[in-house]
Amino acid sequence: MPEATSSPAVALVTGSPASIDADLLVVPWFEDDPRSAIDGLDAATGGEVGRALTSGEFQGKAFEMLFVPITGGSWRAKRVAIVGAGRRGAADGDVMRKVASAAGHAARQKRIGRVAIFVRGGGDAAELAQAAVEGVTLAEFHGGSYKTKDPAPAAAPQWTIAIDGSVDSAALQRAVDRGRVLGECSNLARELANEPGNTLTPREFAMRATKLAADVGVAVEILDEKQIAELGMGLLLGVARGSSEPPRLMVFRHEPPGAPKTPVLGLVGKGITFDTGGISIKPADGMERMKDDMAGGAAVACAMRAIALLNAPIRVIGVVPTTENMPGGRAIKPGDILKSAEGKTVEVINTDAEGRLILGDGLWYARQLGATHLIDVATLTGAVIVALGKFTSGLFGTPAAFVEQVRAVANRAGDRSWPMPTYDDYMEQLKSEIADFTNTGGRAAGSITAALFLKEFTGGLPWVHMDIAGTAWADEARPFMPKGATGVAVRTLASLAFEKLEEKTEN
Ligand code: BES
Ligand code: MN
Ligand code: ZN
Repeated sequence: MPEATSSPAVALVTGSPASIDADLLVVPWFEDDPRSAIDGLDAATGGEVGRALTSGEFQGKAFEMLFVPITGGSWRAKRVAIVGAGRRGAADGDVMRKVASAAGHAARQKRIGRVAIFVRGGGDAAELAQAAVEGVTLAEFHGGSYKTKDPAPAAAPQWTIAIDGSVDSAALQRAVDRGRVLGECSNLARELANEPGNTLTPREFAMRATKLAADVGVAVEILDEKQIAELGMGLLLGVARGSSEPPRLMVFRHEPPGAPKTPVLGLVGKGITFDTGGISIKPADGMERMKDDMAGGAAVACAMRAIALLNAPIRVIGVVPTTENMPGGRAIKPGDILKSAEGKTVEVINTDAEGRLILGDGLWYARQLGATHLIDVATLTGAVIVALGKFTSGLFGTPAAFVEQVRAVANRAGDRSWPMPTYDDYMEQLKSEIADFTNTGGRAAGSITAALFLKEFTGGLPWVHMDIAGTAWADEARPFMPKGATGVAVRTLASLAFEKLEEKTEN
């Protein structure tokens, strides 16, 4: 692969655990594993693993870890870490990804040089291997720091993915390469979303996204405020009015030679570099979090990079409207009417419902550029956190089969998602006396009315909206994920470019 990976490649070896040479060999361990699950492991550790299992010191519960030196003669690794992976029946790629990431974080902390991850679990070996590589790559992420006295982060270990049994090694190697790209592109998105509002302005966001996508062959175009005005994007311009930073519209194109004219996947991401709420200003408490209100836009930009690196066979367009949402003397006010590029008028009830405004113009533009299938990703509503919490993104859209397809892809990619209803009845909550509709529908079903607002700009195309307000940011560290930006949706969006997209829809 070209300059696919900025970090060293992940090695791939096949063979028994005993044959794997490493400073640390990571072995996933299932709660219901028999003692003898890994041939020779107990003997190689001088009986330590058996003792820990008997005493209950180690039970195989998710992300428990036991580090034991290898003392037996025939094993090549210096140490082994058995890592709890829950019940065997539930062990899929997502479990492998998290176990690999948790072990990767622990290995980094211990400054271990060469770490091998032994792949175990149900299902396809290549899928498990890919997930393991994604996991260790995610563990390489360093949040970045403006601390002036921070020591430099420890170098990432040199990773090896180890698999036992007879497996197609060409397919495995492709899976490992794919996992590395997807993990790295997720980390790039995390880096962008962690960046504060004063350093990542809309112009800076556009510049950084341009670089990371254009470097690998994505065609990138950045429209400035004049071009945005020429397109008549009154919703994006309306949100931008309160800010002294001008808005931008990023357009990414992946057009592989020889790709069919259709389908064209259109990815649209919310790029609010800081959301104060505008004149409908947010409470001070926790407002600093709103620097990540461009996580959807970052996911689109970084997915475009992955899509190019992985040579996705179909055309893909990315559209990211980006602006700050600020109060100010020129800011939009509650009651103002804005006209979208599509021509529809919106009565702004609450200036804090700004994401749907900029996405309205963004979705329309993706259609102008020829998208046949739309996916938008946005930190759109606090209400989706009330409904689904911090570990599951909300999915909305039509037709149901397309939503289900995206759900399945997202769950395999480790971006857990769940479908929510989009009955037309909710549209009554967006009734306006003076314009085509309002931008908010009250407290009830807040994430659904937001989705129905977006639907007005999809022109009846197959469309899925992913509300990542809860999932884009980890409030607390977990064994496999530090606090901060999660990189959610990058792997889902990139994987969708390898799906068969049904052309016809009825709705
Ligand atoms: N960016 C926020 C949504 C959000 C909330 C993301 C919490 C992450 C965590 C969005 O622009 C917003 O402010 N939504 C409002 C909509 C309301 C005014 C209808 C909300 O959810 O409160
Ligand atoms: Mn807002
Ligand atoms: Zn917002």
